[in-house]
This record gives sequence, C-alpha cells and structure tokens, in this order.
Amino acid sequence: MPEKRTVVQIGIVGCGTIGGELAGWIHTHLKNKAMLAALYDLNPSQSNHLKKSLSLTSVLVASLEQLVAKSDLVIEAASVEAVPLVAKKVLQEGKDLLVMSVGGLLQNQGLVALAQEHGCRIYIPSGAIGGLDAIKGAALSKIDTALLTTRKAPEALAGAPYWEEKQKEWQSISEETVLFEGEVTEAIHLFPKNINVSATLQLAVPDVDWKVKMIAVPGLRRNIHEIQIEGESGKMVFRMENIPAPGNPKTSYLAVLSAKALLEEMFSSVRIGS
Ligand SMILES: NC(=O)c1ccc[n+]([C@@H]2O[C@H](COP(=O)([O-])OP(=O)(O)OC[C@H]3O[C@@H](n4cnc5c(N)ncnc54)[C@H](O)[C@@H]3O)[C@@H](O)[C@H]2O)c1
Repeated sequence: MPEKRTVVQIGIVGCGTIGGELAGWIHTHLKNKAMLAALYDLNPSQSNHLKKSLSLTSVLVASLEQLVAKSDLVIEAASVEAVPLVAKKVLQEGKDLLVMSVGGLLQNQGLVALAQEHGCRIYIPSGAIGGLDAIKGAALSKIDTALLTTRKAPEALAGAPYWEEKQKEWQSISEETVLFEGEVTEAIHLFPKNINVSATLQLAVPDVDWKVKMIAVPGLRRNIHEIQIEGESGKMVFRMENIPAPGNPKTSYLAVLSAKALLEEMFSSVRIGS
C-alpha cells in the first residue's frame, strides 16, 4: 500500500478503455486519498484526449520517466509488451505498480524479485474472473487439475497473433471452434489481449500445471471464463459471463470494475476476502 505521501499520486500508462475509466474514477471517487498526477500513452493523442475529456487541468501528460518521477503508484493499462519496460522503470524507483496486462508479468518473473529488492509492491487485480480467494486457499493443499476455458466471439479475438501463426482468418469461423488447448505461456503468446486471466491464475497458483482452452463462438455477446479445479480441498467451478467493456470487445467490463475495487481496497480501513 503506497503511503509515501498523504495524498497518493497516481500515474496511468495506457489511456485506452481501462486507463480512461480508471482516470475518471480516481478523479471522482478517491478524492482526499489519491490524485491523478500523470498520463502516458504510446499514442499521445490518447493521453491528450483523456486529459481534455475529463478537464484534468493539473494532470501532466508526460513521458514515461516523468510519469514515474511524479507518481507513488503507477497503473499499467497498456499491453503485454509494455510491461517489462514500464515495470522496470517503476520498481527501480521504488514505486508501486498495478498491472492489468498480467501476461507481461508472467513472461518476466524477475520483476517480482525487483519489487522485493526495492521494497515496493505489485498489485494484480482479479480482472475478468472471480474465485481467486478460494483458489489461493485451495492451493495451500494439493491441486490435481486446473483448467481455464474461455469462450469469446471470433471478432473479440481479431488481431491476435494466433490467426497469422495458424494461417487462419477469424472471419472464417462459422461454428463453435476450439482454437487452442495448452499451457498458459503459449495462450498468452497467441492471444495476448484476450487471456490475461490465465496469467493471473498461473501467478496466483504457480505450482499448478494450468491448462487453457480457447473457444471461438460466433454470435456470442459475452466473454465467458470457466475455471475448474479439483484437488485435496474438493472441487470448484467458477463461471463468469462478462459483458464486454464499452468500446473494446476484447476487454470485459468486469476487468475495469475489478481494478476500481482493488484501488478502493488499497485506501480502505477494512479488507474483505482473502
Ligand atoms: N487482467 C485482466 O483481466 C484484463 C482484462 C482486460 C484487459 N486486460 C489488459 O489490459 C490492457 C489494457 O486494456 P484496454 O482494454 O484498456 O486496451 P485499449 O486497447 O483500449 O488501450 C490500451 C492503450 O494503451 C496504449 N499503449 C499500447 N502500448 C503501449 C505502450 N507500450 N506504452 C504506453 N501506452 C501503450 C494504447 O495506445 C492504448 O491507448 C491490455 O493489455 C489488456 O489485454 C487485462
């Protein structure tokens, strides 16, 4: 929990769907506790537009370095590829980091050691899934099988490296089709913008051999995640049917809400759930 200044200064890297929603929410809901200090986006029109649309006159549209210098807590809401660079700069300066593109953390596990070395924290919201409290509890006993099955409309998977690697087109999917079954690292490689929740599960329960199944379902209007776990503590099944976030079919609205809930918890005197 960042406590270096009375009012925690927050910087946002990535001013798209999630970054934009969080910026507005911090500004209106975390008054007297936190303040939006700086915005950075690879595409400057995004950060400039966000500043203007929220009338955030005191917020700096900054370079990544300036943003880190001004912030106690940096929110990454950019991309899996952005994570190593952003995280290194933030953690080396002893600042806390909230990561949305969790796949980028999984690919760069040295970042956790860097946080330890510099005495700061990495926050990972539950994102588009629920059940992490129970899953982390179950992981303290033996888990035999752990499976994540994700169903999305083909258009929500457009642009993923999967299509080029497999030489297929998402437009050609006319019936429910299993696109991929395998390990989390390969799932993140093939669908970096669609399956961050698999990385969250793998990081939460690292000693378990998670399996991921990605299914394209034409006409599906929700992003569906099903988690099944069986082991010494019993059997668990969680199913989320998420409405896509306005403006981005790849991102579930629940992912935005989950980051808001985590931010709220950081500044609350009560902590609910494990
Ligand atoms: N953890 C979860 O459950 C979960 C759920 C949904 C989305 N996500 C991830 O969160 C991230 C943000 O999602 P979104 O819906 O806001 O995406 P978005 O495409 O709407 O916005 C991303 C923004 O980041 C900017 N950007 C891209 N690369 C950048 C970089 N290297 N440096 C700075 N800015 C960069 C883009 O220009 C864009 O403005 C994505 O990586 C997405 O996959 C995670």
